Amino acid sequence: MNRLSGRTAIVTGGARGIGAAVVRGCVAEGAAVAVADVLADEGRALAAELGSRARYLRLDVTSPDDWAAAVAGTEDAYGPVSLLVNNAGIVEFGAIEEQTPESFRRVVDVNLYGAWLGLRTVAPSLRRAGGGAVINISSTAGLMGYANLGAYVASKWGLRGLTKTAALELAADGVRVCSVHPGPIRTPMTEGMDESIAQAQPIARFGTPEEVARMVLFIAAEATYSTGCEFVVDGGATTGSMILAEADE
Ligand SMILES: NC(=O)c1ccc[n+]([C@@H]2O[C@H](COP(=O)([O-])OP(=O)(O)OC[C@H]3O[C@@H](n4cnc5c(N)ncnc54)[C@H](O)[C@@H]3O)[C@@H](O)[C@H]2O)c1
Repeated sequence: MNRLSGRTAIVTGGARGIGAAVVRGCVAEGAAVAVADVLADEGRALAAELGSRARYLRLDVTSPDDWAAAVAGTEDAYGPVSLLVNNAGIVEFGAIEEQTPESFRRVVDVNLYGAWLGLRTVAPSLRRAGGGAVINISSTAGLMGYANLGAYVASKWGLRGLTKTAALELAADGVRVCSVHPGPIRTPMTEGMDESIAQAQPIARFGTPEEVARMVLFIAAEATYSTGCEFVVDGGATTGSMILAEADE
């Protein structure tokens, strides 16, 4: 299919996991993609596998200079950016009283500040492209709370709020901004997490990176009347609890 043909995309955290699936999907749909990540080996290998419409760019999303260079490099190679996927993210566990300030700041820095930097640096390029889309990968942790994940939850709710503000500010430029909220997805981030985490969900399994990527591609290519809103891809995790129904059986 060619739903994104002629488009230029930057996918942060594109070297592996959900980001890599988004990169593959974008290229398959005809876009040219910057695989923007701190993981050089994985990023280079993925870009090499995908050919001339993918290139690796070293980007630490918390660095304004890296962002400026990434946008300039992507424009030089492929033209103005019409799709930004703010996907880079990290998770660090800790109860509110136990997590260190340094850990809290690291998580918010990458997951929220990094996306904000991306938005503000890429916005002029989106305008030069004549419009486009920004897709922020939040989480079910941006829709509800999780014990021992305060920094991550705060960062993902923040990203959801930032999405709405950006949608309002960029609408006049023809830019849609949406958030995506995955449930548990099998990636390096969830390596070692037990399958039982998904047991109480209506769809009682981990999702795949490709299932999230398909949602991202839909928003980028087809959701032309959607902005400032949430797209949930969580196996029903945020639907409610099945525990009472199970107790009846
Ligand atoms: N896996 C899940 O269950 C799940 C669920 C909900 C949301 N998410 C979100 O999806 C996104 C992707 O997660 P994933 O599961 O693929 O994780 P992952 O750890 O497999 O991939 C994350 C990528 O982000 C990159 N990254 C980290 N810090 C960076 C930085 N400072 N600059 C640039 N790149 C950086 C990593 O190098 C890595 O390639 C994250 O934002 C995550 O919070 C994941």
